Amino acid sequence: MKVLVTGGTGYVGSHTAVNLIEAGHDVVLWDNLSNSRAAVVERIGALVGTPPTFVQGDVRDAAGLDRLLEKQAFEAVIHFAGLKAVGESAQKPLLYYENNVQGTITLLRALEKAGVRTFVFSSSATVYGDPACVPIREDFPRAATNAYGRSKIMIEDMLSDLVAADPRWRIARLRYFNPIGAHESGLLGEDPQDVPNNLVPYICRVAVGREAVLRVFGADYETPDGTGVRDYIHVRDLALGHVAALRYLQAHPGMLTVNLGTGHGYSVLEVVKAFGQACGRPIPYEIVARRPGDVAQCYADVSAARRLLGWQAVHDLDAMCGDAWRWQERNPQGYET
Ligand code: NAD
Ligand code: UD1
Repeated sequence: MKVLVTGGTGYVGSHTAVNLIEAGHDVVLWDNLSNSRAAVVERIGALVGTPPTFVQGDVRDAAGLDRLLEKQAFEAVIHFAGLKAVGESAQKPLLYYENNVQGTITLLRALEKAGVRTFVFSSSATVYGDPACVPIREDFPRAATNAYGRSKIMIEDMLSDLVAADPRWRIARLRYFNPIGAHESGLLGEDPQDVPNNLVPYICRVAVGREAVLRVFGADYETPDGTGVRDYIHVRDLALGHVAALRYLQAHPGMLTVNLGTGHGYSVLEVVKAFGQACGRPIPYEIVARRPGDVAQCYADVSAARRLLGWQAVHDLDAMCGDAWRWQERNPQGYET
């Protein structure tokens, strides 16, 4: 298929582009580079033979999208473009609604006009808020605690209204758990532009000496070792989930909603230990107060993805940490090096 990948130079988008190209799809990346670098395009090219076409553009730019969609006949869109920092979303809620919600409306309008009706959306486990129990199934109630999460819920609802109004749409809402890791070549990885908020990117910075110590946010949760438990999924597995979702949509019009996780939860201290083994030295840490808004445990019921997509994650925590470390060690300053 000819696939438009918005946010395609970002962390999940770039890894997915590699798998799409490897699966024989023709890929065009559309990104405004607000949280990524154009150097990613050459790195993808080094992995797959030829760099994909990259167009610098914004999903809020209706005229720009129209021009792109007039020139090229896309069969599907994977929509990664969005802002994702929870803390920032609390400070700048309008920016998040404008970029994520308005950006998606503008994109969907352009697609409707061009007659492109196969759409894969990057949703998040954040839509489940503080779940009543784990593992989390797709039919659990949704409740966001911040503007970022609410933007995801709004877009999810908009997409289900769209499918209800026009059954020609084929839409996947993929709820990612915690993507970590990097391409095993060390060429692609996560390159946060500021001090990272998420656990593994922060540990990476500690491991290369850019930060002194990891702060573990709370050791008094009701979990086996008291620290928060999450469903970390290798970004390479997550990328393949998108290829599987596209394949599913080719055969099934309507709406697909699935969790993409491993179904296993790991605590912060388990991740710290595994990363220490991967990089060959312990990660210094200190226990501090809980981070407001954090939940004790969050991991997926992955049976729907397995049943519907024939997909499941295969990498374990050691592989995720090993690949994250290889990327970080070879690119201590990210794509700038
Ligand atoms: P990322 O920031 O690395 O990638 C997003 C990309 O979108 C960036 O390259 C950025 O420059 C681009 N972008 C942002 N706003 C844009 C706009 N208006 N127009 C064009 N491009 C724009 O983030 P990621 O981790 O790759 O996440 C991709 C998607 O997955 C996001 O929608 C995110 O909310 C969602 N998601 C991510 C995670 C995670 O932990 N990484 C978890 C759940 C869901
Ligand atoms: C965060 C976001 C969530 C988003 C998800 C994936 C918040 C409140 N939630 O969730 O919306 O969907 O990322 O992008 O930001 N931790 C530390 N020290 C750190 C960083 C994290 O101890 O420096 C702990 C956290 O308390 C948590 C675990 O590590 O228990 C994972 O944290 P993180 O990587 O930020 O992911 P989430 O909390 O799942």
